[in-house]
Amino acid sequence: MTTASPHLAAGPRPAVARSFPPGFLWGTATAAYQVEGAAAEDGRTPSIWDTFARTPGKVRNGDTGDIATDHYHRWREDVALMAELGVGAYRFSLSWPRIQPTGRGPAVQKGLDFYRRLADELLEKGIQPVVTLYHWDLPQELEDAGGWPERATAGRFAEYAALAADALGDRVRTWITLNEPWCSAFLGHASGVHAPGRTEPVAALRAAHHLNLAHGTAVQALRAALPSAADVAITLNVHHVRARTESPQDTDAARRIDALANRVFTAPLLHGAYPDDLLADTARLTDWSFVRDGDTAAIHQPLDFLGVNYYTPTLVSAADGTEPDHSFDGHGESGHSPWPGADEVVFHRPPGRTTAMGWAVDPSGLYDLLLRLKGDVPDLPLMITENGIACDDYADPSGAVHDPDRIAYLHGHLTAVHRAIEAGVDVRGYFLWSLLDNFEWGHGYSKRFGAVYVDYPTGRRIPKASARWYAKLSRTNALPA
Ligand code: NOJ
Repeated sequence: MTTASPHLAAGPRPAVARSFPPGFLWGTATAAYQVEGAAAEDGRTPSIWDTFARTPGKVRNGDTGDIATDHYHRWREDVALMAELGVGAYRFSLSWPRIQPTGRGPAVQKGLDFYRRLADELLEKGIQPVVTLYHWDLPQELEDAGGWPERATAGRFAEYAALAADALGDRVRTWITLNEPWCSAFLGHASGVHAPGRTEPVAALRAAHHLNLAHGTAVQALRAALPSAADVAITLNVHHVRARTESPQDTDAARRIDALANRVFTAPLLHGAYPDDLLADTARLTDWSFVRDGDTAAIHQPLDFLGVNYYTPTLVSAADGTEPDHSFDGHGESGHSPWPGADEVVFHRPPGRTTAMGWAVDPSGLYDLLLRLKGDVPDLPLMITENGIACDDYADPSGAVHDPDRIAYLHGHLTAVHRAIEAGVDVRGYFLWSLLDNFEWGHGYSKRFGAVYVDYPTGRRIPKASARWYAKLSRTNALPA
């Protein structure tokens, strides 16, 4: 957004504060490649993102995660910042190539020690560590062996999950297997705007299945290694897909995208089978024979909650002759579609204001999504594992960072979460993306999502106005009127 917006709430603002349920978890989130840096330290080897970022033209300005926010060295300072924010939880990911540099074999103790120290410091400050096992940084050696389109990668992931649980299970209670497997599968293998940058639609569908299988086998490994009180989950960027009109053609376009964006994951994960319409829609590309007997049963594991990442809704129609705008449909600048078999679907920019990412601001999408998930899986608790906004933040001459658009965005989306809770949805917590400005994948450091500003030349951290706002929220457990 370009100007301060006074009011983006999903409904009328009440005269009194909106209190959240007792014990509601307030957190912040990051991911290893986006914040850690120290890319070649303590035995870490390249991941697919190191390779991709080094490939000319893939990441804006040629940015890489070599240094990022230097969290690998500044972690103590960052935990202190979280303590100031008063958050009850921190969601971070483990760097697979820091723990298993080749993607196989024994763990590197120095890699594990980093996460042990981090978890201990968090616990010391009363902040619950929430671990994501895979936030997109596949060891390059596993990519060289075929990567996610190959079944063996799922087996490697289950072994890695077991190593991590053995090493950290005594101090980490909450485990998330995969973050947004849609991005890994479809942005990584169909549109190619994420690592490993492949543009093969069938490879993307194979990757989606093997990510599902990786999740299922990892859940079994985690359950075997962790105490019974541990919570195990997966985080999906469930798309809230809307049809532009109620015409049968537009409704069908929305159904197709819902299958490729959501149900390719939720159906096997939560219900134990791939949807018939997905198989039919993609039949001219593949017969799905890579799905073997027993796979969907292995994928369909009981979960303790579902992690939901939400930023913006998705608006589609059937082909209508308009020129496609690829800035928000996942094509990026590659010209390749991330939607195998759905070339005739057109994506539209939803109405209203947009963020620095060009994404529409629409808290009602989050409300509708939460209600839809409750209808789909009534007994599964939900956790918002990411929500946030990129703004064109800068430090003013006094050194302060004012980000009223972020506060308005958060207020609007938390109002939507509160309304969903009032409507009976079991939402257990909310993680602001992100603690810090960081490496925003193909956009490099050009997009700032943090509640804390990072001055990249010096590494200096400056809490933005939104950080103070969020601190008050997490302390009072209530959204101000
Ligand atoms: C979701 C991803 O999990 C995270 O890594 C990314 O930075 C945010 N979306 C913002 O795009």
